[in-house]
Amino acid sequence: MEKDILILALETSCDETACAVIRNGREILSNVIHTQIAIHEIYGGVVPEIASREHINRVSQVVTKALEEAGLELKEVDAVGVTYGPGLVGALLIGVSMAKAMAFGAGLPLVGVNHIEGHICANFLEYPELKPPFVALVVSGGHTHLVEVKDLGEYRLIGRTRDDAAGEAFDKVARAIGLGYPGGPKIDAAARQGNAHAFTFTRAKVQDSPYDFSFSGLKSAVLNLLHHAEQVGERIDPNDLAASFQRSVVEVLTEHSMEAVREFGYDSLVLAGGVAANSALRESLKEACAKRKLKLYAPRPALCTDNAAMIGSAAYFRYMKGERSGWDLNAVPNLALF
Ligand code: KG4
Ligand code: ZN
Repeated sequence: MEKDILILALETSCDETACAVIRNGREILSNVIHTQIAIHEIYGGVVPEIASREHINRVSQVVTKALEEAGLELKEVDAVGVTYGPGLVGALLIGVSMAKAMAFGAGLPLVGVNHIEGHICANFLEYPELKPPFVALVVSGGHTHLVEVKDLGEYRLIGRTRDDAAGEAFDKVARAIGLGYPGGPKIDAAARQGNAHAFTFTRAKVQDSPYDFSFSGLKSAVLNLLHHAEQVGERIDPNDLAASFQRSVVEVLTEHSMEAVREFGYDSLVLAGGVAANSALRESLKEACAKRKLKLYAPRPALCTDNAAMIGSAAYFRYMKGERSGWDLNAVPNLALF
């Protein structure tokens, strides 16, 4: 029997302060998340300075709780993993500084993790048998990528958004409809009460890049519809608008993903990122995959949105490859995956 590898991981890239303990990259021993949603809600979006301050206030408690729930002391883990980008610089710095201090103090190795890679790795926690290669659709607040994952760290970009990320579009449209922050879950809920065929928005085609996405035109179309209705004194049902907007996003994400899986000869699709929690997207991909006899991998919604468990999984696989970060590890707000 090989020795278990335990990773304590931290995630503070945006508005969740999170810490988890992961065994062998696949098993969650604890997964603690302190969400700042209630704090940012009154501003209608994440305020970076407030996020940083709240991370400072919470990070120690969250780490203590994660170790307690795992029944471990810091010195019993094998390494400390931490998100060092992409994300908000001040927010990332809290996690990176805390992770460095803990690793240095306990004499443990430090492993910096790319947040987007973490999102993909959430699938390894949900599906112990899953291994690359596969095609992944990564849809978060800042990223929309169709990517061929040949191995961990070996990526080939198939398609990406040319403007807004899918989650960003959800957030902006939710604000315009008056649903508030965070937009994704609010639109998801409103759409369930609405008619998804009440409005049809034309699809923006991205020239010469069949797998790329563009969501800013759709967002403008929704805004124009709202402004026009306001001018002529017409009432638009926000649930219908939410459902129709969501249908547009879901359709294009589904079509491009199915095309990519077919074109590149895979028999499954891996879904990741905060927008992967969207019920309509999950349903649409489930149906599309079933029709084509493909397998869909989608983590439970709590592992799709930001958490440290996924960072622990990514850190484990990096650690096993012998990767270690130096004490000069810094926050990289625009860290790329490719
Ligand atoms: O991955 P994530 O938690 O943070 C980033 O790395 O960006 O993604 C956050 C994004 C936000 O834009 C949020 O509105 C969206 O994911 N989101 C959703 C849902 N839950 C979160 N979008 C659509 N439907 C949801 N249920
Ligand atoms: Zn994220």
